[in-house]
Amino acid sequence: MADATAKERGEAKRGGKISKIWIWSIIGLFCASIALGAGLGFGLTRNKDKSAESESSPSSQSSSQSLETIESMRAQYNLPGYAVGQSRNGTFLSLVTGVRKEGAAPLITPNDTFHIGSLTKAMTATLLASFIREGLFSWDTTIADALPELSSVMDPGHRDTTLAMLTSQFSGINDTWSSNLTFLEEMYNPALAPSDGRLEVARRVLSQPPASTPNTTWTYANSNYVLVGLILELRTNATWEEQMQSRLFAPLNMTGCGFGPNPEALNTSIDNPWPHIPDPNTGRPVPFEGVELRYRDNPPPLGPAGTVHCPMQSYAKFLRLHIDGIHQNASGASLPWYNLTTSDFQFLHTRWNPAANSETGSRYTPGGFWTRGTMILEHNGSNNLNAGHVYILIGDSAEYSTFGFTFTNVGGDRSLLAVLTGVDQMLRGDLDLFKQ
Ligand SMILES: *[C@@H]1O[C@H](CO)[C@@H](O)[C@H](O)[C@H]1NC(C)=O
Ligand SMILES: *[C@@H]1O[C@H](CO)[C@@H](O)[C@H](O)[C@H]1NC(C)=O
Ligand SMILES: *[C@@H]1O[C@H](CO)[C@@H](O)[C@H](O)[C@H]1NC(C)=O
Ligand SMILES: *[C@@H]1O[C@H](CO)[C@@H](O)[C@H](O)[C@H]1NC(C)=O
Ligand SMILES: *[C@@H]1O[C@H](CO)[C@@H](O)[C@H](O)[C@H]1NC(C)=O
Ligand SMILES: *[C@@H]1O[C@H](CO)[C@@H](O)[C@H](O)[C@H]1NC(C)=O
Ligand SMILES: *[C@@H]1O[C@H](CO)[C@@H](O)[C@H](O)[C@H]1NC(C)=O
Ligand SMILES: *[C@@H]1O[C@H](CO)[C@@H](O)[C@H](O)[C@H]1NC(C)=O
Ligand SMILES: *[C@@H]1O[C@H](CO)[C@@H](O)[C@H](O)[C@H]1NC(C)=O
Ligand SMILES: *[C@@H]1O[C@H](CO)[C@@H](O)[C@H](O)[C@H]1NC(C)=O
Ligand SMILES: *[C@@H]1O[C@H](CO)[C@@H](O)[C@H](O)[C@H]1NC(C)=O
Repeated sequence: MADATAKERGEAKRGGKISKIWIWSIIGLFCASIALGAGLGFGLTRNKDKSAESESSPSSQSSSQSLETIESMRAQYNLPGYAVGQSRNGTFLSLVTGVRKEGAAPLITPNDTFHIGSLTKAMTATLLASFIREGLFSWDTTIADALPELSSVMDPGHRDTTLAMLTSQFSGINDTWSSNLTFLEEMYNPALAPSDGRLEVARRVLSQPPASTPNTTWTYANSNYVLVGLILELRTNATWEEQMQSRLFAPLNMTGCGFGPNPEALNTSIDNPWPHIPDPNTGRPVPFEGVELRYRDNPPPLGPAGTVHCPMQSYAKFLRLHIDGIHQNASGASLPWYNLTTSDFQFLHTRWNPAANSETGSRYTPGGFWTRGTMILEHNGSNNLNAGHVYILIGDSAEYSTFGFTFTNVGGDRSLLAVLTGVDQMLRGDLDLFKQ
């Protein structure tokens, strides 16, 4: 599949070895120098992730077989670090291996923050669902109604595009605008509020006619989610970032979740996993450095499409919401989160157009997931400096529903394959943190 967003972030010096870095940012689409055995970091932590329970302290467990599996994957795919989270029947386990920064000592810990890339899209779609439940919009609200301030620049072809078409990526909009590097650099300007940047993106995108008739053709594009974020912030008095914080992160106790690159006290600190790119010749991960911190991620206006970072335990709470949401009535558990009903979650989990132009597009849902078969939701994500893949298996009850995810702190095709492989192994039972 084609890249959603491609750009060059400019020149930067890295240790005198490679003088030019080309960064191809792909939020989502497509959607090691430490020797084995030399004190590799790992830790398996266990805690109940039921949202009703307060955060519990993780306790160490050992799972040497799983550790061997992820450690060999880390070596095979040239990853600085690899992290796996898995949940079953309300218990969440995680396992990590490797280093935060290639060539440096600090090990990845289970509490580290990971950049989740386009796994953010499901959060934006879920956030939107909360406003829809409150009656502010419906999934059929059109862009023309939602963005009256852009009516003078809006090509008429977009007028009837709905919110559901945007989150399902059937708007006919693409990300071609992002190949304008001058414009992208403007989007990085720290003086530009992300919401103002989104307005500029919207102007650019909506002043062009859609590339295909809305609702006919699946085209993965970050712009769809940028527009949703913009609509949310223009129709309420809070930015997308504030809404994510107040509606999702705070009520679900998703401690440590935020926007942009993983937090570091200074641009030289190694407090969390560093971003890496694969060396084009050797495939070895090279720390992405020599640029200001803000360039360690896509520009902030792209937030709703893919700039969230979270500790694994906190990300797990978002996935738990989707299982509790589906099974709230059967399980008897109440779902206080904005009164979303089982059918609201079913909508988020159901393919928008099973007869779409592409097989991949036919599996995409308004909730920002791909379906795999009838029971599995999944998504991959990458800002091309990190990568992640998630699955949720919706079983007959919450007890028999599971989820899992994999993260690594390097971008590139092989790291996307590595995170996919980890998820495939979990789904097959070959990687099972619960097997002692
Ligand atoms: C991302 O996931 C989708 C859906 O499973 C898949 O079609 C696509 O190939 C994946 N992209 C990469 C680069 O792995
Ligand atoms: C969040 O944590 C607080 C304090 O620990 C707790 O009272 C509350 O029940 C938790 N909420 C959820 C949804 O887990
Ligand atoms: C799920 O956990 C509950 C108690 O926490 C237990 O009673 C039940 O047997 C478990 N179910 C499965 C399938 O493990
Ligand atoms: C992770 O955080 C928990 C509490 O938030 C703490 O008890 C634990 O020691 C931390 N683990 C590591 C490896 O830092
Ligand atoms: C690219 O963006 C810049 C800055 O917004 C603008 O001045 C220029 O016209 C754009 N170039 C093209 C080819 O659209
Ligand atoms: C992207 O969309 C623009 C505006 O609709 C269109 O002109 C262009 O041809 C599209 N590009 C691709 C590769 O589809
Ligand atoms: C936003 O603020 C304006 C002006 O303060 C107010 O009129 C409007 O009702 C507010 N909208 C919402 C959704 O709170
Ligand atoms: C790192 O931060 C320092 C202090 O803020 C700054 O002087 C320096 O230019 C930064 N380096 C890079 C590469 O951004
Ligand atoms: C759920 O709905 C009730 C009744 O309409 C309302 O009072 C309450 O505020 C809602 N809760 C949330 C979290 O939106
Ligand atoms: C779930 O139960 C609640 C409260 O009993 C009810 O209002 C809601 O409609 C139910 N949802 C579904 C999808 O059955
Ligand atoms: C858009 O396409 C979906 C899937 O084919 C269909 O269910 C829906 O009715 C269409 N909506 C409009 C407004 O055409």
